[in-house]
Amino acid sequence: MPVIELKHPLVRHKIGLLREEGLSTKSFREITAELGRLLTYEATADFPLETVRVQCWSGPIDVPRLSGKKVTVVPILRAGLGMLDGVLDTIPNAKVSVVGIARNHATLQPEPYVDRLAGDLHARTAIVLDPMLATGGSMNSAIALLKSRGATDIRALVLVAAPEGIAALTAAHPDVRCWAAAVDSRLDGNGYIIPGLGDAGDRIFGTR
Ligand code: PRP
Ligand code: URA
Repeated sequence: MPVIELKHPLVRHKIGLLREEGLSTKSFREITAELGRLLTYEATADFPLETVRVQCWSGPIDVPRLSGKKVTVVPILRAGLGMLDGVLDTIPNAKVSVVGIARNHATLQPEPYVDRLAGDLHARTAIVLDPMLATGGSMNSAIALLKSRGATDIRALVLVAAPEGIAALTAAHPDVRCWAAAVDSRLDGNGYIIPGLGDAGDRIFGTR
């Protein structure tokens, strides 16, 4: 089950807002960050806890504390940056590993152009951020890079996933789970998700 579509009413409402063509850049950015928070909440639901004893005002008590691997968040440039602040609101101690990948407009193939990753990836949960899982090429390329540098616990957060991208991710990386705010119908002839959001990078950065 590599792709898990969130059904929560808040998530469905917010994705619906993003689909409006006339939405301002400011609002698109804010809602993208909010969805980043909600996706993170779901994707971390199985993080392990341990019990530690603390001194409470009423005396010593046992409290739960996160005990698993530390986290690195991996935004795929550019558009993944739009989700980053929301994710870091939820996991403020995470390291940030940046991966730059541009999708070639003619071939739709991913073209990596930069990476700056945390060094101890084998000891971290890597959470990859990209609003759009279209053909899946960019996500698969980022995940392959993370694996080549030692990451073993990899999760992905996307706003919208296309069936084509889900199939590609499942085939290449069946061990990676992906949480999506929406699963849409298909890709058009230019590799854009239908109904989708349009060009997520342009909408987050206000370009074009
Ligand atoms: C977009 C999007 C994803 C990718 C998805 O990035 O942000 O990274 O396309 O498509 P795929 O699943 O077919 O690879 P783009 O290359 O347009 O760059 P940008 O984020 O800089 O706008
Ligand atoms: N990249 C986007 O930004 N949007 C799509 O629909 C597909 C790829």
